[in-house]
Amino acid sequence: MSFRKIVASPVICLYILFTFSIGNQVSGTPIGAPAAACGTMTPDHGVPPQTSASPYVTIPTLMPDESVRLTLLVNSTGILTFKGFLVMAFDNSLGDTATPIGTFSEIVEGTPAITPANYLNCLSGSKNAATHTNNTEKVIVNLLWVPPSGFDGNVVFKTTFVRNVTTFWVKTLSDVISVSSTTNTTTSSTTTTPSTTPSITTTPLTTTTAAGAPQLAPWIGTIFLALVTFMLASSA
Ligand SMILES: *[C@@H]1O[C@H](CO)[C@@H](O)[C@H](O)[C@H]1NC(C)=O
Ligand SMILES: *[C@@H]1O[C@H](CO)[C@@H](O)[C@H](O)[C@H]1NC(C)=O
Ligand SMILES: *[C@@H]1O[C@H](CO)[C@@H](O)[C@H](O)[C@H]1NC(C)=O
Repeated sequence: MSFRKIVASPVICLYILFTFSIGNQVSGTPIGAPAAACGTMTPDHGVPPQTSASPYVTIPTLMPDESVRLTLLVNSTGILTFKGFLVMAFDNSLGDTATPIGTFSEIVEGTPAITPANYLNCLSGSKNAATHTNNTEKVIVNLLWVPPSGFDGNVVFKTTFVRNVTTFWVKTLSDVISVSSTTNTTTSSTTTTPSTTPSITTTPLTTTTAAGAPQLAPWIGTIFLALVTFMLASSA
């Protein structure tokens, strides 16, 4: 019994250390945000988000077919570009508890063309988030978002803009847009109602780290459990 405890304790400590060190490396990639960032929309860059007003804006424009063209761009004279982004759409009536809705579309129709993007399947949805494909300096990004079939309500877009690895703004809010995909009329219009949620979310970084860690924990755990079982079996 005591031998088992002696063997097991360092193995468990190693397991915990290994899991968290891997967890820290999961996110913040040049090819776009990982699915681990879906919840907090916060890059795991080891520094907190900016709390100042965002120098970037997301402008939604309702199309005749009730899809929404999104323009992500700089609205500042001091900062001219951004390297990364992560954007999702939410039902504005659901507040902070909302999960992302709708689908980002690659269909190119009209001008300006849709910017190449990586699409994430967040929280069991499909292509309900869009992120960058590389970390080149960007001035403008154009995306197309399609509401869920039959959706009739107010949509707000939340965008995390990454200026560089140490400077980023999390969940900046777009104007709220009224979408009615149940009809094909043009009665819907953009409103300038500010969202009910705060403009900047200062999610503690530890939350991101903790959220990243469980991603790899199951299979690492399996390997270590197998190791412990093997060691215990050989010692018996
Ligand atoms: C753009 O920046 C100007 C000046 O800082 C500000 O007044 C305006 O509200 C910003 N626009 C948006 C859509 O945030
Ligand atoms: C980098 O991403 C932008 C879109 O943000 C795209 O227009 C450009 O072609 C990409 N460049 C490379 C080298 O993939
Ligand atoms: C990141 O961007 C900020 C704001 O433009 C700038 O002050 C800072 O020097 C940049 N940091 C790096 C590492 O480029």
